[in-house]
Amino acid sequence: MKANEIIQAEAKYIVQTYVRPELLFTHGRGAYLFDSEGERYLDFTSGIAVTALGHSDGEWAAAVSQQAAALTHVSNLYHTAPHVQLAKNLVEHSFADKVFFCNSGAEANEAAIKFARKYAGRGQSKIQNPKSKIIAFSGGFHGRTVGALSVTHKEKYRRPFAPLMPGVAFAEFNNLASARQAADDDTCAIIVEPVQGEGGVQPAAPEFLRGLRDLCDQHGALLIFDEVQCGLGRSGHLWAHEAAGVTPDIMTLAKPLAGGLPIGAALVTDKVAAVMKPGDHGSTFAAGPLVCAAANVVFDRVSQPEFLAQVRETAAHLKNRLESLTSDQIVEVRAAGLLVGVEMKGSVKPLIAAARERGLLLINAGENVLRLAPPLIITKEQVDAAVSIIASCLSSES
Ligand SMILES: Cc1ncc(COP(=O)(O)O)c(C=O)c1O
Repeated sequence: MKANEIIQAEAKYIVQTYVRPELLFTHGRGAYLFDSEGERYLDFTSGIAVTALGHSDGEWAAAVSQQAAALTHVSNLYHTAPHVQLAKNLVEHSFADKVFFCNSGAEANEAAIKFARKYAGRGQSKIQNPKSKIIAFSGGFHGRTVGALSVTHKEKYRRPFAPLMPGVAFAEFNNLASARQAADDDTCAIIVEPVQGEGGVQPAAPEFLRGLRDLCDQHGALLIFDEVQCGLGRSGHLWAHEAAGVTPDIMTLAKPLAGGLPIGAALVTDKVAAVMKPGDHGSTFAAGPLVCAAANVVFDRVSQPEFLAQVRETAAHLKNRLESLTSDQIVEVRAAGLLVGVEMKGSVKPLIAAARERGLLLINAGENVLRLAPPLIITKEQVDAAVSIIASCLSSES
């Protein structure tokens, strides 16, 4: 099929849950994507904060093809080396003692919710009613499956699928008094993104995260950090919560972990892991040797201190360049490393379309926030090129 026929056929054959531009990507290299017309695009979306090493990284592609030629899938009924190696990497570089693997961010949060509910019921008989309340926050996004959606705030995503999982209370993000009001001894977990992504790139204040830690300790609840979008180097630190100097009981990861292949993970302390027994939770595909071979390449690179220092340096350059834009359409630039939100006065959709016309791919985070999430290997020159395109779009809009 020709490119335009493929684009036309999409609406006929695919459930219409996404609105896609009329482009067909055929390949990518580093920070660039190429379409069927041979046009080159600077990719400041990285597949929604996924392709941390860029497209077609040589070492990543070699590891994937070698592993595919050796062994792709055996299910979680058997041991494989890349699986254990990835868990070891994650544990040795975090607060966690053990890892549960799955296939996506939503699934990682499902696991976190199940673990928290099981932890709350530990040592109780079947007739007792364990505490079950989970506190989540305004602007929070945790995924589209029913459990993850239940702790996701946006009404538009929730309403069509009601009734969702009971036992969720929402408090105001970055407002400790509001969290204190919602929490009680029936609370089994608090779930929060250290940097809200879909909610408009909103970093949590370090004292807010520290306050939530205290609140959880006070009520015997588990603290869950959702680092699906902000984790693994995106913030310029391996984990976004590092800046707050507190650790969670559970941390969920997904997007960049395997550099473009589907994976999710819930990292837990021993006390949480101890309540989960064989048969309590599982997944057929999770963390097979292929996806873990890819993830080990990503982890080895991203966890290097020099790599993270480079991310911080490029991120500071990007923030500076954006802050120097003079458009009166810009309300605020918010950044956590290479996750950047530019809040605008109106909808950012026209700007995204105009930038795409000029060879730059951007996404939104809500109606009014332009989100920049380039691959972590982006260079300062590529940042300059992207900001110039944004500036030219803004000046031709006004
Ligand atoms: C913070 C956060 N949690 C969870 C998810 C859900 O991840 P997935 O789309 O892989 O299910 C997302 C996706 O955008 C996210 O940003």
